Amino acid sequence: MTESVTRAAREDDMPAVRAVATRFGLLRGWPPGRDFLDAERIFGALALAPAPDGRALGFGGTLRRGAVTHLGDLFVLPESQSSGVGRALLAELLAGDGPKVTFASSDPRAMSLYIRHGLRPRCPLLYLTGPAAGLDLGLR
Ligand SMILES: CC(C)(COP(=O)(O)OP(=O)(O)OC[C@H]1O[C@@H](n2cnc3c(N)ncnc32)[C@H](O)[C@@H]1OP(=O)(O)O)[C@@H](O)C(=O)NCCC(=O)NCCS
Repeated sequence: MTESVTRAAREDDMPAVRAVATRFGLLRGWPPGRDFLDAERIFGALALAPAPDGRALGFGGTLRRGAVTHLGDLFVLPESQSSGVGRALLAELLAGDGPKVTFASSDPRAMSLYIRHGLRPRCPLLYLTGPAAGLDLGLR
């Protein structure tokens, strides 16, 4: 396995990062303009694994609250998975001290990566969905 290179994402990397996010459907439903990827880059950390042609093989992002680092995203293009890209991104994003949290996917690579970085499974997380119409948010 070759060692993957990663670096912090710059503003002009955002199209490459968004191309990966779009492959995973992450931007579906987001209005055009600023989104959670900008928030990670500006207020937390956003890292990418650049490809030689200017695209990205994958990216990951964190946000911080106090001392706690929350890993919000870690995505590697299917054709580049299982070659150390995710591990390199995580090593860059979780390099600092302090508590770290994330919500793991069911991808078997995710769990082993996180455990190797010192995170321990706490409890299952259920995603519940329902219709937005008719919700009373008390905003009137
Ligand atoms: C999960 C993901 C980010 C991991 O990145 P990756 O580049 O594919 O993974 P790596 O090559 O860095 O390998 C990570 C670990 O998985 C192991 N692994 C690799 N391929 C595997 C496979 N097919 N089955 C099980 N484990 C595997 C590696 O050995 C490594 O573990 P180790 O550090 O203990 O040796 C990536 O596969 C992905 O984007 N998956 C889809 C999106 C997703 O679920 N993201 C996680 C959101 S929480």
